[in-house]
Amino acid sequence: MSIENPKPMEPSVVRFDLCSQAFKQDPFPTLAKMRAQGPLIRIRLPIIGAVWMATTYDAVNDLLRDHHRFIQNPAAAGNRFAAGLMRWLPRSLRPITTHMLIRDEPDHRRLRGLVERAFLRQNVDALRPRLEALADEALDRLAEQAARSPGGVDLLTEFARPFPLAVICELLGLPAEDRPKFTQWASGISKAGSLVGILFALPGISKLMRYLREEIQRQTEHPRDGLLSALMQAEEAGDRLTEDELLAMVFLLLLAGHETTLHQIAGSVLILLDHPEQLRELTADWSLAETAVQELLRYLSFAQVTKPRYAREDLEFQGQAIRRGQMLIACLASANSDPSRFENPDQLDLHREPNRHVAFGAGIHACLGAKLARAETEIALQRLFTRFPNLQLAVPRSQIRFTKRIGARGLVQLPVRW
Ligand code: HEM
Repeated sequence: MSIENPKPMEPSVVRFDLCSQAFKQDPFPTLAKMRAQGPLIRIRLPIIGAVWMATTYDAVNDLLRDHHRFIQNPAAAGNRFAAGLMRWLPRSLRPITTHMLIRDEPDHRRLRGLVERAFLRQNVDALRPRLEALADEALDRLAEQAARSPGGVDLLTEFARPFPLAVICELLGLPAEDRPKFTQWASGISKAGSLVGILFALPGISKLMRYLREEIQRQTEHPRDGLLSALMQAEEAGDRLTEDELLAMVFLLLLAGHETTLHQIAGSVLILLDHPEQLRELTADWSLAETAVQELLRYLSFAQVTKPRYAREDLEFQGQAIRRGQMLIACLASANSDPSRFENPDQLDLHREPNRHVAFGAGIHACLGAKLARAETEIALQRLFTRFPNLQLAVPRSQIRFTKRIGARGLVQLPVRW
């Protein structure tokens, strides 16, 4: 071995249980231990094995903003194992592996540009009255359900899911009467926390894909108001959006558009109930809502990690030698609790300002629906606590459980009464 060019040593692989109930209930101590190991650690994850994980605010931002060296497509980075993982999916479901979040430039820019243009037409501020009406409709159903079950009602299934699902269906222009079907399919998909869970979710994904293909056909003949028709017209205007790309786009919007927001709403309600003084302050003055929701996004960090990135070439990052094709993941929850950026990060402070959290990611793949999601969370909390000011848990706090799904800090159920 040449002495001038010693082979770089890989750091030893560390293990942290990121699926445990203890971690999901209070992730801050574990995240601090992870950061203490360094800004970029080698960590063993279930199923995937050893990966690089960025832990500090700066390392997370550097990783996500460098889309030239760190790419989404494992095949283009020469990672045949990761590229092959999706091949076991039935052919009819393959389009879902081609959406914009797993595409690189220039394809990503083209796909995102198409949907952004259609999205921008829907000014979120102008949408607010409609969002409020949809939240109230969902609350009516929650109240009806509660009247039938005096022991408590699950806020997650009866309000936190139907409200953002109604919003995204309406934005896409999907018929309101079909929503109960998606609810069933989508809840199966969101429970898919393990390989076995994914296998159980496949029938739901298949049904959703078949439904979307049929709806695209129906809207070809009878266009409706909404994003789906707008995207189909964009295709006709000469932009090459294939049917599979359209399908992948609608699938991503439908799932990303409600799955994340529902957990943000339910998680925010739990956090506020855990902090009654701050809840009282918020309900006494809703002008605090915008700042409060930013803090609830940071504090919950529902999307604890991002999708993997792959090193395009052998390179050095954060003082470590990374080999071409190796997988890197950004730990958003750890960045959001980095004390070099946030004072007392493990404390909720609804007045926190500035609050430049990365709960929506960073760089070119940063969340497309961030503004909508913030508005939905604000409206959901305001309508809920205004209508039911005595809202409380219907079970002891120790019985509230988070799902085991890695990288997502979502609740299993949130039984409440008032
Ligand atoms: C509180 C709710 C939400 C959270 C916490 C959230 C979080 C995120 C995060 C962390 C990413 C980046 C992932 C990565 O870099 O690997 C992302 C991307 C994305 N999100 Fe969200 N999201 C939320 C709501 C929404 C909504 C409501 C929509 C759509 C209506 C949406 C659509 C998308 C899309 C399309 C992308 C991919 C963007 C791209 O690849 O350019 N999200 N989201």
